[in-house]
Amino acid sequence: MARVEGVGLGLRAPLFRDLMERAPSTLRWIEVSPENHIGRGGFFEAMLSDASARYPAVSHGLSLALGDRDPPPRDFLRALRAFLEALKTPWHSDHLCFGAVDGAHLHDLLPLPFTEESIRSVVDRVRLLEDALGLPIAVENISWYAHPGVAEMDEADFLNEITSRCDARLLLDVNNAYVNARNHGTDARDFLRRVPADRVVQIHVAGHFTGADGFRIDTHGEAVCDEVYGLLSLALSRTGPVPVLLERDNGFPPFEELSAEIDRLDAIVRGAAQ
Ligand SMILES: [Fe+2]
Repeated sequence: MARVEGVGLGLRAPLFRDLMERAPSTLRWIEVSPENHIGRGGFFEAMLSDASARYPAVSHGLSLALGDRDPPPRDFLRALRAFLEALKTPWHSDHLCFGAVDGAHLHDLLPLPFTEESIRSVVDRVRLLEDALGLPIAVENISWYAHPGVAEMDEADFLNEITSRCDARLLLDVNNAYVNARNHGTDARDFLRRVPADRVVQIHVAGHFTGADGFRIDTHGEAVCDEVYGLLSLALSRTGPVPVLLERDNGFPPFEELSAEIDRLDAIVRGAAQ
């Protein structure tokens, strides 16, 4: 299994050519979402084959929300396990949210209540997925815009409880932490100081949209803001050197701009390692 370290970029069709032909030397790995490739063949199979021959890859799921109560489809789990083995990913991550109810996919990352009941449900699902897939699961904190119902704890405690009870890894999304803190009037630095740093195997950074009223929406379609670069330094000071992924899913700029972001992230990762 290739070593994954430094800065990575999500494999997306509009970025593929640039990724192969003019990526900066500071780009060290790629993140792959299996749902974009399983069963599709053609261009998507060829893109993955070329890109994963060039870069070590880490898997990031889009459809097995860790708060869902419905059992995951067996056929999909079998196909996913084979995909992950071929990819040689060290772990598979998915989101700490729910996205399907009674078999209907809602195609959104919907927030879980921060409650004991949610913790037990997520812990069961993480264990089920680790058994079915044969590798560690990393849970990712999401951007959430309203808390459903009454919270029994805050998000940092929620993450600590889940990861300690099922020995899960954490994919720490620093942009999500910033968006939540700004929207809910909390302190992102306090959140990052309290999440379980020893569980973090990977970090996400991304850009977000800021409305005229100051409300922030996690879009992955803007440049990373200065505050998130600052929070990344804080996160890395606690976690030590873990791989950092630049998420860019839409609003693609000239590749030089992404290269400059990758270089800036690389400088922060290197600085934190010293
Ligand atoms: Fe993320």
